[in-house]
Amino acid sequence: MANIQSLRGMNDILGSDSELFTYFVENASRIAKNYGFTYIETPILEETALFKRSVGESSDIVNKEMYQFIDKGENDVCLRPEGTAGVVRSFVENKFDRAGGTYRWYYYGPMFRYERPQKGRLREFHQFGCEVFGVSSVYEDANIIMMIKDILDFFKIGFKLELNSLGDQNCMPAYREKLVNYLTDIKEDLCEDCNRRIETNPIRVLDCKNENCQKLLYNAPKITNNLCEKCDTDFEKLKEILDFNDVEYEINTNLVRGLDYYSQTAFEFTSNEIGAQSAIAGGGRYDRLVEFLGGRVTPGIGFAIGIERLLELVKMQEDEKDVIYLGALCEDALNILTKIASKKRKDSKTFIEYSVRGFGKHFNLAEKQGANIVALIGENEIKDGTIFIKDLKTKEDKTIKLEDF
Ligand code: HAM
Repeated sequence: MANIQSLRGMNDILGSDSELFTYFVENASRIAKNYGFTYIETPILEETALFKRSVGESSDIVNKEMYQFIDKGENDVCLRPEGTAGVVRSFVENKFDRAGGTYRWYYYGPMFRYERPQKGRLREFHQFGCEVFGVSSVYEDANIIMMIKDILDFFKIGFKLELNSLGDQNCMPAYREKLVNYLTDIKEDLCEDCNRRIETNPIRVLDCKNENCQKLLYNAPKITNNLCEKCDTDFEKLKEILDFNDVEYEINTNLVRGLDYYSQTAFEFTSNEIGAQSAIAGGGRYDRLVEFLGGRVTPGIGFAIGIERLLELVKMQEDEKDVIYLGALCEDALNILTKIASKKRKDSKTFIEYSVRGFGKHFNLAEKQGANIVALIGENEIKDGTIFIKDLKTKEDKTIKLEDF
């Protein structure tokens, strides 16, 4: 009988990966708490209508990627493809919209999208996200962006921040009309997807990945040139706050995000080190979402980080770090090795082999442990106060003073 395997695009998290995973969640949670956020957990399974009304019926997520089914009670349900909708549902259900005030919540957990799996793109993946309710000030937009930067800086992850404003209900409709007119004129040269989107969601045409479409869109009207006074002032202020705090960003007027609930600020943190799936985190303002889900008008803003993508980058750094193997060529060396290990372990992964072996055997064992530096001590080294070092990658070896190691 064939063994049962996990589903395509769905992974177990174990060993060193699970250690990194919990390390990430602990530290991201700590930073979120410092920004005044408290933990919220919502169900993984929700009514399908929730995502249709929030993420949007024309989005790929809802249209093509939902794990949707009818349960035993004939309810149309689906595994959450993202975290914001459930949090907003909870906000309204628990009547926080009626109570007024400010709420800052963070969450983490699995999300499900039936996408074509590839490196950095899974069907079950994990997000760490934050949502803020009741704050319309653009200072909060800056606050959120700075918090993501704090998290990425903590994990020493290089990134590019792309920023856009999507306008609001005052300026977006007029802009959409302008854009549709432009797109209709070049319709025949645009790809099939874009043609479909002109009707259903013209803004999404702007982030088509097809090179030919991108060329044709070069002269398309830009949302940032068509903002109403409020959106324009807010966007300028946001840029000013980020400049003041030395947060670097690029304006990308084609950044529209794959979820329909955004207005005004939209942003994405990307890295060019993880291949095509370059977005590590994304988010923005959603001042109308509470209302779309039946609540009282309440401003909202949030983001989510893709944990697997972020950890891919952390692992790349780990790969660059030395892993040290310490071996004894005589019994007396072992005590010295324990002292060296306790120093080296302050910042490097370090193994000690407790059995006395020859050079060749130590090199083999070191390789098996994944070490790249082998350090050995025998009688001669003890006598001279030295240590033998071999770099297994470059194959170079040398004997150096113990205090220089
Ligand atoms: P999103 O941009 O769809 O936004 O997802 C956020 C992050 O989740 C992405 O930047 C990416 O790192 C990760 N991600 C998305 N899809 C996959 C996948 N198939 N495999 C691995 N990682 C993936 C949202 O979900 C919004 N709810 C964010 C938000 C919160 N906006 C406001 N509040």
